Amino acid sequence: MDTVYENALRDMDMKIYRNCLLYNGDIPFAVGSLDGTYTLSGKGQWTDGFWPGLQLLAYAGLQDDLLLGEYERYMPFLIERVNNDPTVNKDRGYLSLDHDVGFIFHLTAVYHYVLTGSQSSREIGLKAAESLLGRFQEKGSYIRAWNNWESDTPEFRQEKKGKAIIDSLMNVPLLFWAAKETGESRYRKSAEAHIRQLATNIVREDGSTYHSYNFNPDTGNPVGGRSVQGYSHASTWSRGQAWAIYGFALAYRYTGNEEFLQASQRCLNYWKHSLLPEGDAPWDFAAPRNKWLPIDTSAMSIASCGILELYLHAPDDRELHELAERMISRLLEAHRAPAFPAGNAFLLHGCVGPAYREGSKEEKDRNYFYANQSLIYGDYFLYEAIMRLQSRNTLLPWDF
Ligand code: GLY
Repeated sequence: MDTVYENALRDMDMKIYRNCLLYNGDIPFAVGSLDGTYTLSGKGQWTDGFWPGLQLLAYAGLQDDLLLGEYERYMPFLIERVNNDPTVNKDRGYLSLDHDVGFIFHLTAVYHYVLTGSQSSREIGLKAAESLLGRFQEKGSYIRAWNNWESDTPEFRQEKKGKAIIDSLMNVPLLFWAAKETGESRYRKSAEAHIRQLATNIVREDGSTYHSYNFNPDTGNPVGGRSVQGYSHASTWSRGQAWAIYGFALAYRYTGNEEFLQASQRCLNYWKHSLLPEGDAPWDFAAPRNKWLPIDTSAMSIASCGILELYLHAPDDRELHELAERMISRLLEAHRAPAFPAGNAFLLHGCVGPAYREGSKEEKDRNYFYANQSLIYGDYFLYEAIMRLQSRNTLLPWDF
């Protein structure tokens, strides 16, 4: 038992208890929270699962029914969300469901079902898996990432039809769970085919990654890599790289496919050699390294979980463990949010991305707005990483 980690968990637990009161059934906003303090009224985004999921993670470690009760207050919302009714979505300002259903419902409904056996949560999880499976494109064998938004240009709408993204690697575990739960192989087949496409196309020769990869929606032929949240189409967005390290490692957990293990290891190798001298992850590994370059602590906590997942499969590899420990120490020593009430987040210095690019003043202002934030997913994976380091958990969302 390491006291540094134990103390960090205790501090985060205190914030979780206090945030239960403060949020009172609400959810932190996905974008634009100040460093250290969350803005509320964030319902209806890709991030909906992280706060209730965090309550469940804390419950799994502490076995306190109060936390379970607090989580269960979100179940009517999760049911409404998974129903994805266009009128409700419009009335409430919810984004329609896309590939992000894994983030939203795996960390909540599936985990809740695994922890408690709730049939209602099982149904939510299966409904979400069905909607993810419905995005699988037979031509090209990939899961379509995003839906069209009103603000999209006609070109972007066309591009989106054939777009797969790296973050989806964290959503496909939902399909592996559904396959196990129902005994139906269709979930697994599509998940594996999609992951294979990403391993082939989204990971470059040197282990770096594209944020997204476009296929021709009519023929399914590969077209090329593109970035939306990174610095350029040829660059490597660090959170995407972290999703890849972790997502491919999880794919290996569920399939035993060595190709996925190697993809994760190659992405990690690139990651290790690309960090800033102090050990931070820049928002994008190819962005100019000047005084404005923002870092992304969420990428660091996600990658730490991925490394600890890899360590599960190579328990003699002390270097892996030490690398995760170094990153978590850096987060705790240099990027921790202040104590409550000055801060109710765990981490500072997250970056939604893009942080800056050439463009109009309006675009640059908006981009600035995307840097230096507390991000609920950075907090979620920090908590998970430290639970893993402390072996505090009995069961993680990924264990089924
Ligand atoms: N999944 C969206 C993001 O990582 O920003």
